Amino acid sequence: PNRTLIAPSLLAADFARLGEETRAVEQAGADWLHLDVMDGHFVPNITFGPLVVKALRQHTTMPMDVHLMIAPADPYIVAFAEAGADNISVHPESGPHLHRTLQLIRSLGKKAGVVLNPATPVQTVENVLDLADIIMVMTVNPGFGGQAFLASQLPKIARLREMIDETGRDIVLQIDGGITPKTAPLVLEAGADCLIAGTAVYGAPDYAAAIAALRATGPR
Ligand code: DX5
Ligand code: ZN
Repeated sequence: PNRTLIAPSLLAADFARLGEETRAVEQAGADWLHLDVMDGHFVPNITFGPLVVKALRQHTTMPMDVHLMIAPADPYIVAFAEAGADNISVHPESGPHLHRTLQLIRSLGKKAGVVLNPATPVQTVENVLDLADIIMVMTVNPGFGGQAFLASQLPKIARLREMIDETGRDIVLQIDGGITPKTAPLVLEAGADCLIAGTAVYGAPDYAAAIAALRATGPR
């Protein structure tokens, strides 16, 4: 992408008004809608599944960026694809065969993403870069919104930027967790393409201003 993509995370929205909250960020200038799927097993929190993704599909034309924090993930991938997900990202720890999982997502015509937890090394994606459309770096431990940004992940982001550039492929480098107008410049400087933000968008009084503030930190 030639400009920074902003993907508000619905996790911080008002869950009683998800359709409205989806339309609101689209009107406010968001690029992608980030959907955090949690199972209370892979991560210590529970959110929603394919039914909610399908219901929201009718409320937006934004690409729906589905972040699966469920284990196993494979049995549910077809359901999320059919629900209207555009991007489906998985954690390598959620199943034994990351390569096969990415192949499955792409066979459904969807963009395939790999998510790296704070303790997960960059080498985990080294041998699947040919199958990845998205690499997502967690700058918090997954499970909850509103946590503090982990600056320890900045060298990892910079290294992934180099690895992606070496492939010559169009892989989006996304950052998830603790993104604010203060931390956004740090990750953009390290080479991020796409900022996921829950609290910094949905916790703000003016969504358009919040999205503009993140974008204003500049394209890389
Ligand atoms: C955490 C989720 C994030 C979360 C980010 O497990 O993956 O997408 O919504 O929330 P903030 O932006 O508040 O850190
Ligand atoms: Zn997420």
